[in-house]
Amino acid sequence: YMELVRGLNQGRGRKYFISTFGCQMNENDSEKLAGMLKKMGYEEGRDEAVSDVIVYNTCCVRESAEQKIYGHLGALKKLKEEKPDLVIAFCGCMAQKADVVEHIKNSYGHVDLVFGTFNIHRFPELLYEAINTRKTLVDVWDSWDQVVEGVPIERKDGVKAWVTVIYGCNNFCSYCIVPYVRGRERSRKPEDILEEVRALGRSGCKEVTLLGQNVNSYGKDLGNGLNFAGLLKMVNGVEEIERIRFMTSHPKDLTADLVSAIRDLNKVCEHLHLPIQAGSSRILRKMNRRYSKEQYLDMVDMIKREVPGIAITTDIIVGFPGESDEDFEESLDVVRKARFDMAYTFLYSKRQGTPAARDPDQVPEDVKKERFNRLLEEQNRISLEINKALEGQRLEVLVEGPSKNNEAVLTGRTRTNKIVNFSGSRDLTGRLVRVKITGARTWYLEGEMEE
Ligand code: 5AD
Ligand code: SF4
Repeated sequence: YMELVRGLNQGRGRKYFISTFGCQMNENDSEKLAGMLKKMGYEEGRDEAVSDVIVYNTCCVRESAEQKIYGHLGALKKLKEEKPDLVIAFCGCMAQKADVVEHIKNSYGHVDLVFGTFNIHRFPELLYEAINTRKTLVDVWDSWDQVVEGVPIERKDGVKAWVTVIYGCNNFCSYCIVPYVRGRERSRKPEDILEEVRALGRSGCKEVTLLGQNVNSYGKDLGNGLNFAGLLKMVNGVEEIERIRFMTSHPKDLTADLVSAIRDLNKVCEHLHLPIQAGSSRILRKMNRRYSKEQYLDMVDMIKREVPGIAITTDIIVGFPGESDEDFEESLDVVRKARFDMAYTFLYSKRQGTPAARDPDQVPEDVKKERFNRLLEEQNRISLEINKALEGQRLEVLVEGPSKNNEAVLTGRTRTNKIVNFSGSRDLTGRLVRVKITGARTWYLEGEMEE
């Protein structure tokens, strides 16, 4: 396979630019797209204007993402007119939707290539073909049940890396488009994962984040008795790696042995991203989440008891169809009771083809926004309280490098995934250091390094 990619040595002296939208899974796919382009001889361009190949790796989880992407894509038309040899590729989750592909063909004729989430490993061949055809080349697969290994990868960061362990999702939450565009759950073999993590360790990487739409389902399809807690134990044994994170966990699949793994495995960090989505048990049922508010809160209690100091973060959707004022109050109540370190809050967005989109009882936009703001305010207050309580503590921080906004400041994360800014030499990048927390904000901490 690598031979084939290298054989398509069409990129020498040419540049590429990749725009990634959406989640870490897409970021990880973009690293593979970059890896394939590099193998073909391309170099990364500084921006779109200087590049010969532009790739849009897209997200369709909410309508706002789609609108933004169409906006950017429209703006490329002029560039293509000026540079007819420019190749524009459109891929990722949006490309898996038939209506999107139709729309691209009809209204964005300047796009040269459309491919989906199941065949990104074929990108080199498709690119080669697209360069030699005039009209928009479309190659989108409906599904694919095997996991493709051995795709080259060009990582964004040297200190920490994403490692996908399971693709797809079987849950069909009633609002969510992901199962339709990413297909059914497919776990990677443990030996392939371990090989990747070991190679990362040898190349200086200190932290891996194991990725999947629902990592707690890991292994179910492999039929070898291994589950996610077991995988964590294996990864914990990789010598050079110092920290292990993972996301996302579905509450319905959270097992006691996973909580024990977080508690007992020294490299597994004390942070759990556990999306609740809504506080009302009635709404949770309509969302097809398969747990109640009470079950969720009991779980949070158990986790905090077992793993003292753990940070729990969540996702919450406001304005799901049929959400009443009382239902929304339940979301506020959960936020107060669970005391999340952070919550990602979203306005419900209607996704064509999902059951919730057919619900006649849609919540008006202004009501959604008002609820959204109240929820955000409540959560921000709690995040700040939790962070304030860390002042004076000495925490282990993995140094990621100079801060993007201020080169003189180093930035890193605690085991609980909180950002800490402090001053120090950039040579410390990739090292674990002790930092005394001196200031707390809603989104990050400030500190002083201790020798
Ligand atoms: N509208 C709003 N938010 C959504 N999410 C998924 N689908 C939708 C939708 N239709 C949110 C969920 C999920 C996160 C990644 O995106 O909270 O956990
Ligand atoms: Fe979407 Fe639910 Fe699957 Fe998450 S678990 S990707 S919200 S269907």
